[in-house]
Amino acid sequence: MLKGIILAGGTGSRLFPLTKVTNKHLLPVYDKPMIFYPLEALVKAGIEDIMIVTGGQAAGEFLRLLGNGNEFGLKHVNYAYQQGAGGIAEALGLCRFFAGDDPVCVILGDNIFQDSLFEHVSGFKSQPQGAKVLLKEVQRPERFGVAQMDGPRISRIWEKPEKPPSNLAVTGIYMYDKQVWDIIDTLRPSMRGELEISDVNNAYIERGQLSYSVLDGWWTDAGTIESLHRATCLVSRERGAEADLSLAGEAS
Ligand code: DAU
Repeated sequence: MLKGIILAGGTGSRLFPLTKVTNKHLLPVYDKPMIFYPLEALVKAGIEDIMIVTGGQAAGEFLRLLGNGNEFGLKHVNYAYQQGAGGIAEALGLCRFFAGDDPVCVILGDNIFQDSLFEHVSGFKSQPQGAKVLLKEVQRPERFGVAQMDGPRISRIWEKPEKPPSNLAVTGIYMYDKQVWDIIDTLRPSMRGELEISDVNNAYIERGQLSYSVLDGWWTDAGTIESLHRATCLVSRERGAEADLSLAGEAS
């Protein structure tokens, strides 16, 4: 059975001072805490067995906020604690015993997707083995992992390249079979001192086992001031809300 993993650790340093006393994924994106979006995305994709990895001093707040996940239709939520911020792949490595031999669908806690992930997850389930990523065409690919294409296949993923080989960003949703745990064991920290998820994906490419789909709807992360603002704007537009600035300055 496919299990879900939400990675919500890290320091949120690009959002400082918003993240000085709290965890990035507890900050609001329009009318909900950021963590609600990836959690709802997994539940809507039909995934019910979920682990959240978090860290830092505000880790206990996730329990207070989400509890057993009953309001999302879940029976319980599993939690893991990441000491420090050694990278996305390090955080994922903490879920090995939760996953056992089952495949996993991993989502970054600061990623928000317009479209349901159901179809993409179903596609992965019918894949005999390997991994799957979701790509999205973006204006500034150098902020992300970027796919280098060789005809219809991905030949390599470059993490935040100065000269992007395409404008296809690798979004923060990754589906893996159980090979992922042995791959994580082989990783070495990158120049920024982290175990990189792009290195995991490149290992699957070398095995000829990475599939992908390209997203139609909008996608954003919310890990910088600009992208957090954009996320709020995209979600509010989705709900048909317009800020009524005409009232600014008037007494209520
Ligand atoms: O948003 C998509 C991008 O996310 C991908 O295109 C990149 O390939 C991928 O490396 C990642 O890039 P970022 O530099 O934006 O990742 P960031 O450090 O902001 O971490 C994203 C989430 O991962 C964060 O919200 C929580 C989780 N995380 C991150 C780190 C470094 C952890 O749980 N633990 C960590 O140690």
